[in-house]
Amino acid sequence: EKAGYKHFMAKEIAEQPVVLADALKHYSRDGALTLPEGVDFTGVDRVTMVACGTANYACQVAKYWFEQIAGLPCDVDIASEFRYREPPLSDRSWAVFVSQSGETADTLAALRYARDKVARIVSVVNVTTSSIARESDVSLPILAGVEVGVASTKAFTCQLSVLMLLAIKAGLDRGRLTEEDAKAHLADLALLPGLMNHALGLAAEISGIAEKLAEAQDILFLGRGAMFPLALEGALKLKEISYIHAEGYASGELKHGPIALIDNRVPVIVLAPHDALFEKTVSNMQEVMARNGQVLLISDGEGIRVAGHGCWKTLAMPDVPDRLAPILYAIPAQLLAYHTAIAKGTDVDQPRNLAKSVTVE
Ligand code: F6R
Repeated sequence: EKAGYKHFMAKEIAEQPVVLADALKHYSRDGALTLPEGVDFTGVDRVTMVACGTANYACQVAKYWFEQIAGLPCDVDIASEFRYREPPLSDRSWAVFVSQSGETADTLAALRYARDKVARIVSVVNVTTSSIARESDVSLPILAGVEVGVASTKAFTCQLSVLMLLAIKAGLDRGRLTEEDAKAHLADLALLPGLMNHALGLAAEISGIAEKLAEAQDILFLGRGAMFPLALEGALKLKEISYIHAEGYASGELKHGPIALIDNRVPVIVLAPHDALFEKTVSNMQEVMARNGQVLLISDGEGIRVAGHGCWKTLAMPDVPDRLAPILYAIPAQLLAYHTAIAKGTDVDQPRNLAKSVTVE
């Protein structure tokens, strides 16, 4: 079943180029979207996205896309907070629930709360027969295939791709994108499977870095813009399976507290493609280095050329269209967690205290 891999997690990380290509093929043809008919954002005033854990981080990334690509106001909530806060919801809004299993108790309860309050209940799920899928007005499968490893990997990148397609559709329906713009976005997405294969090729290098990370007590992940939620995801993945304490921060928040933690024993992993925000992140990174923090810079060739000097380690990723960096950079984040856990000898597929599907609150 593991198809020659040592762990389901390794297999599922490696499957990403293929499953992502399948999902893209399912939802587009000849440069045009083929989303189900119910997916029409005309008149929609807001999208509220609700999920837990990794699925919530996918939503947090997608918030940048809905706002920037479609100009559509967007909230993201943790399901356990949303359901008890009982927020007011506009009857012209959509509520979007993202869940791999489709059975997460808090997410399902949040969906039931939103029912009859919003214009449409949309879900983005992996298990198409699940409660969340069944109770939605429109359910979009992410087509990741069965995910066995408790730490979610391929479901995350497939969730992101489907959410990106939704943001493109919202951009079209709201007149923010032309058909040509949408086509260009889809052409960018089509590059991802190849780029992911390239990133998977960095596994040996990442495994070398992970052997050092495995000695750390605490690790920080930093990112800006849509890379901020990816920093949260990188930290979650690492703590889940290696049991090393890790936190993700928005780079700009560093000086508002967490910089107090920095010394030469704290690795700081900076997820920063060479984009419009790069220089800002580099200045945060330099603040870390000035305090002897050990920086691992994950960037593209240009980013490493201009800012790699003085870093503890660098990892050179292929160039990727800016908006899609969170999808591609998920791969080194996953591989770092995986190889750090291997170095520590923990149970990668069945981490202690965790269940694959959280059906109790
Ligand atoms: C992290 C992880 C969890 C799940 C969360 C939501 O690797 O797997 O954080 O993402 O429990 O689960 P689903 O997506 O099934 O609702």
